[in-house]
Amino acid sequence: MIIDGKNILITGSSQGLGAQLAIAFAGLGAHVFVNYAHSKEKAEAVVREIKSSGGNVDIIKCDVANITEIENMLSQLDEHGGVDILINNARIDPYKRRNDCNDSEWFDQVIGVNLKGPYLCSLMAIEQMKRKGSGKIINLSSVWAYRAANKQLLEYAMSKAAMHSLTRSLALVSAEYGITVNTVAPGMIVSDEMTERVGEDKLDGIIQGIPLKRGGAPAEMADAIRFVIENDYLTGETININGGTYMP
Ligand SMILES: NC(=O)c1ccc[n+]([C@@H]2O[C@H](COP(=O)([O-])OP(=O)(O)OC[C@H]3O[C@@H](n4cnc5c(N)ncnc54)[C@H](OP(=O)(O)O)[C@@H]3O)[C@@H](O)[C@H]2O)c1
Repeated sequence: MIIDGKNILITGSSQGLGAQLAIAFAGLGAHVFVNYAHSKEKAEAVVREIKSSGGNVDIIKCDVANITEIENMLSQLDEHGGVDILINNARIDPYKRRNDCNDSEWFDQVIGVNLKGPYLCSLMAIEQMKRKGSGKIINLSSVWAYRAANKQLLEYAMSKAAMHSLTRSLALVSAEYGITVNTVAPGMIVSDEMTERVGEDKLDGIIQGIPLKRGGAPAEMADAIRFVIENDYLTGETININGGTYMP
């Protein structure tokens, strides 16, 4: 698929990787839909940056754990001709669990945003893509999909592992409509948010465990996703992009 001129919805694009993807794909000529749930100011800053470079962008508030809000979001895309590319990027930050949130509540929250969100957004997007005869869905997973996690990352890891199953099944059921569904599973992406989240000392330790001895750049993730979008014969697959983390 050629990205120029296509409608691309990136969930959770008010900050971090999602924001960088929004800027990158607007630069390639896509009409970008920036989605946020809580961080309006941050999302507006992303929109301003895209507009200042002449990009085509809209902003949509939507909690991806809420079916009614997703329906509203997708109907806004429909008014613009329908979604061509969906990037399921939104996630609950596993380091920001509230102290008063018990295990049952936290499970529901993590699975709601990280798994039910991509599931519902994809199913609704596929209906629009079917009418167009083409479409691309990219699910953002993580190295944690394959690993045993500590208690802090347990629910996050589960949600990402299930995403791989979602990718394969959606790829199978939507292939006949010219739609491809793939997973991109990054290792650590370097950003100010990541340094703040993990702390500099712990970050250094993580980096020493990566064969390439550095974290990935958002631009490198955007390149991997661009490849997935532009290659029409790739579906049901996972691109692991992690500096060689699985080699040793
Ligand atoms: N950063 C990494 O090193 C890394 C590594 C591996 C995989 N990944 C994956 O890459 C993706 C992006 O990671 P990131 O580090 O950039 O994430 P992040 O900094 O935690 O940002 C998460 C985004 O999701 C949004 N969000 C949270 N709850 C939402 C909801 N209910 N509905 C809609 N949006 C919601 C947030 O916006 P609001 O504040 O507006 O809600 C924010 O824009 C994630 O899927 C993550 O698992 C990241």
